[in-house]
Amino acid sequence: MYTLDELQYIVKRCHRCPLSKSRTHVVFGEGNRRARLMFVGEGPGFNEDRLGRPFVGRAGQLLDRMLEAIGIKREEVYITNIVKCRPPNNRDPLPNECNTCIEFLRWQVKIIDPAIIVCLGAVAARNIIDPNFRITKERGVWINRGKFHIITTYHPAALLRDERKKKEAWEDFRKIRGKYNEI
Ligand code: URA
Repeated sequence: MYTLDELQYIVKRCHRCPLSKSRTHVVFGEGNRRARLMFVGEGPGFNEDRLGRPFVGRAGQLLDRMLEAIGIKREEVYITNIVKCRPPNNRDPLPNECNTCIEFLRWQVKIIDPAIIVCLGAVAARNIIDPNFRITKERGVWINRGKFHIITTYHPAALLRDERKKKEAWEDFRKIRGKYNEI
């Protein structure tokens, strides 16, 4: 078993896939080391790569506002991504990049031991829940995997592109709040 600091030390020096060549910073993840609630996005974007922190661009600001609206502080949760280095031009991470990097997410989950995992978008859901996950049909549904309660909602960037998805996203966030109260 690693500590979170040991894992971060390893991930920051990772060169297991080509994304390491084009990154500015590794975006390991941040937040409460004892979080009951973990959010997992797809991979760092431009601003995240620049600053080495997850969800700090426009999508991140929207995530912050949605958390605030359900009475949860960003510092209370843990936020990370499937891949820890930015894919060039913000393309989706490739299967080999996800498969290589997901070992680090598994360790993060093992160490932090959250009760709830929220997949932000289809890339997270396909890597965590099911490779054939369809976001429009399967979001907002709780899945139990061992001791973990897992739910998928739209990626905040998708909400910025299409406002019509916001209503469903709010329903998902209310469900997340409800489960957070229960656990
Ligand atoms: N989008 C993601 O999926 N992750 C981030 O950290 C930022 C934007």
